[in-house]
Amino acid sequence: MKSLKIGVCGVGNVGGAVIENLTLSPDTVEFNGGVKIEILQVGARKGKSAVPYNVEVSTDLMEVSQNPDIDVFVELIGGCELAKELIEKSIKNGKNIVTANKALISTHGDELFNLAKENGVQIGFEASVAGGTPVIKALREGLVANKVKWFAGILNGTTNYILSKMTDENSSFEDALKQAQNLGLAEADPTMDVDGTDAAQKASILSALAFNTPFDFSSVAYGGIEKISSDDILYAEQLGYSIKHIAYGSIENGEVNVSAYPTFVSKDQLLSQVGQQMNALEIYCEDIGSTVYYGPGAGPKPTASAVIADLVDISNGGWPVLDNNSKKNQFSKQGNEKFSRYFNLEVKNEAGAIAKVSSLFAKKDISIEALIQKESKQNIDPQNYVPVVIISGKISDLQALAMLKEIESMEEINKSVKQFRIHNAI
Ligand code: HSE
Repeated sequence: MKSLKIGVCGVGNVGGAVIENLTLSPDTVEFNGGVKIEILQVGARKGKSAVPYNVEVSTDLMEVSQNPDIDVFVELIGGCELAKELIEKSIKNGKNIVTANKALISTHGDELFNLAKENGVQIGFEASVAGGTPVIKALREGLVANKVKWFAGILNGTTNYILSKMTDENSSFEDALKQAQNLGLAEADPTMDVDGTDAAQKASILSALAFNTPFDFSSVAYGGIEKISSDDILYAEQLGYSIKHIAYGSIENGEVNVSAYPTFVSKDQLLSQVGQQMNALEIYCEDIGSTVYYGPGAGPKPTASAVIADLVDISNGGWPVLDNNSKKNQFSKQGNEKFSRYFNLEVKNEAGAIAKVSSLFAKKDISIEALIQKESKQNIDPQNYVPVVIISGKISDLQALAMLKEIESMEEINKSVKQFRIHNAI
């Protein structure tokens, strides 16, 4: 049987699960993958006490990247600076790399793949997007014969868990977040999950594979789920939508739009049914239409599963290193993609107020597809405002933001207005 000697740096949730799997139940990988994976050294700054297995532990992470007996350096410490330094050193020492680090790949991917190419080694990064659901494999291998037109995905388990709990169990945002953290789904700093950063990083990696764009997280527009209230969830339900955090990428005439925002997803779409911490990715290709990938995208075991799959791939010779020198498609600076929109506002309960709002939509040439006005909550709201929800026709992000500002500046409007995209059947 083939053998692969690895060094693992990082013994947090994911590192711990990789070491546990390979140490306690190596038979499955040996049987399914035909390779014996041996952990030669573990890098853990806290030392041996952090690694309750019979493996050699070094507190000096650089030592692992320089160990001449190691074939693959597995980077699971997260963050950018030290992780990059360790990976670069390992590559220069002739080691293949496996990483779950989406922050690093989505920012420095081009540089790292170039270095890997120069040194004749592989970089496996399946675990950086959708954890245990092999979406990178699907894009690079299964769909290799296709031109991707667009993808839409739920790529953050924590936010999906929070939105599902708020929808299905009326949980508060805070309680749901705590539960997600307890399950080991959330990032060390959960702000990255909640504000959309994590999903945007993953979307930029998918874009590099689907559309041949640079690995450039800074070109992804994104927002988080912080402003979603139980009211929005109820309105979504009434209108036939679920609220999901959706990473969306598309290409038109070589121009690429990639973004990640909370989005109303029509209940007739598969993505609207994806609950709990699950991830799902729909990839639409020119010739074959949509394929959909669903599964666990966060948590120690699913992520470890993807790391180990990359190790087996590398033992089989891997895949060609991504070629960064071929012509790249560029990101659109404008955010031209158009979506229908949900606007949630509070309008003064006086004659003609709604008419003024709707004439603003007419003036901007934006159609109103649906409008819900609830009865005035006179006893609750001394100013006597009424909640109003408007579903608009398709407009770009720029148009939506301009509209938002104009509505907010009207004297008949209370508080800040909310606006979310709508993902309809295509
Ligand atoms: N914190 C991420 C999520 C998991 O909730 O999806 C790792 O990417």
